Amino acid sequence: MMPIPRIDEQRLWASLMEMARIGATAAGGCRRLALSDEDRAARDLYIAWCRSAGLTIRIDRIGNIFARREGRNPSLAPVGSGSHLDTQPHGGRFDGVYGVLAALEAVRTLNAHSIETEAPLEIAVWTNEEGARFAPAMLGSGVHTGAHDLDFALTRRDRHGVTVGAALERIDYAGPEPCAGHTYRAFFEAHIEQGPILEREGLTIGVVTGVQGLDWYDLRIGGEDAHAGSTPMAVRRDALTGAARMIIAIQDIARDKAPHGVATVGEIHASPGSRNTIAGAVELTLDMRHPDARMLSDMGSDMRSECAAIARRNGLELTVESVEHAAPVAFAPACVASVRNAAEALGYPLREMLSGAGHDACHLAEVVPTGMIFVPCAGGLSHNEAESATPADLAAGCNVLLHALLDYAASAP
Ligand code: HGY
Ligand code: MN
Ligand code: MN
Repeated sequence: MMPIPRIDEQRLWASLMEMARIGATAAGGCRRLALSDEDRAARDLYIAWCRSAGLTIRIDRIGNIFARREGRNPSLAPVGSGSHLDTQPHGGRFDGVYGVLAALEAVRTLNAHSIETEAPLEIAVWTNEEGARFAPAMLGSGVHTGAHDLDFALTRRDRHGVTVGAALERIDYAGPEPCAGHTYRAFFEAHIEQGPILEREGLTIGVVTGVQGLDWYDLRIGGEDAHAGSTPMAVRRDALTGAARMIIAIQDIARDKAPHGVATVGEIHASPGSRNTIAGAVELTLDMRHPDARMLSDMGSDMRSECAAIARRNGLELTVESVEHAAPVAFAPACVASVRNAAEALGYPLREMLSGAGHDACHLAEVVPTGMIFVPCAGGLSHNEAESATPADLAAGCNVLLHALLDYAASAP
C-alpha cells in the first residue's frame, strides 16, 4: 500500500464553516432541528458535495443518506463512516457534522491522490440523532440496525404533534430504499469529545473504547388546576411544586452514584401555564446515564420509587414512561486497535476513553465492528452555541479516520 496522504485541513475547515452557515444562530452556533428546513438545506448541500466527489447517493425510508465510493471489488461489504447533521436547539458547529464532513474529506483525499480501495467506502448521515425534536435519539441509525422498527420511528411525534413520517415527506427525504439488510465491513465515527478530558490532558486523539448506558423517561405529574389567590396552601394539588421536589430528588440520585452517574431534567412543560392558576399538570423529560448497566438500572428504580413517594405525599398522580434505553456499549477491539495504531503512526498524543455522549455508532456497534475517534473541543463544551474545536485537531481526527478506513478497505478480507 502506498503511503497514506494527509487530508487537507483547510478544505475540511472550509466545508465545516460553510455548513455552519445553515441554521447559523446570532450567538455563533447552529440550529438545525431534525427534518426542519435547515436540516433539509444541510442535507441538500452535503449531497451536492458528495456528487461532486463522484459518490452515488441512496436515501432510505427513514431519511438516512448513504453516499458510496466504489472500490475495485463491488461484491465486498462497504467500510462505513459518518454521523449526523441535525443539531440541538442551541447546537454548535461541530457535533455530528464533523463526523460527516471528516468522512467526506477522507474520500476527497483519496480522490485527489487517485487512490482506489479494494472495498467500497460509504458515508452515512443518520436521521434524528439528537432526539431534541423527536424522541428517541439516534432514531435513523436505530431503524437501520433493527433496534427500532420503521413504523415506530415514522409515528414519533414532536411537541406540536407532527410525525417523523410527515416531516420527512415535507422536506422530501422519505427515501425509497428499505431500511434493513444493509451492512458494513466495519464502521468508524469521528466526533468531538463533548467533554473536558482530552483538552485537560493536552491530548489530540481519544481512542474510544465504548459508550455509557442511557435511559430516557417522560414523567407526567397530575394535580388540580385551581385559583392562585383563593386556594389555601394546605389543600392544593400543585403539580409544579411536586415536579420541583422530584427534580431535586433526581439530582440527589445521580449525585449518590458519583463520579459517573448523571441525570438531567432538560424540559418542563406546565399546564395551563398561567401566573394565577395553580398548575394541574406537568410533564418532565429525564435523561439518566451511567457506564455500568446495574447502576443505571438502580438509578431508574430509585427515581421511580422516590418520585412516587413525593406524588403520594402531595396528593398528586404520577406516570413514568420509559422512552429510550441504550445499554452500555463496548466497541470492537479490532476497531479500537485500528484507531490507536493510526494515532500512534501519525504521532498524535492519545488516550483510551469512554464516551459520555451517545452516538449513532452505539447502534452500529450492535451489528458490525465499530470504532470511534474523538478530538478535543474547547472547555469540553457541547450542546452549546459556543462549541469550538481547532482546525488542527479536527484534521488530526480526520487523518486517523482515513487510516482506520483504509485498514479495512485497502485490501480484500
Ligand atoms: O444525547 C447525546 O448523548 C447525543 O449528543 N445525542
Ligand atoms: Mn453527536
Ligand atoms: Mn449531540
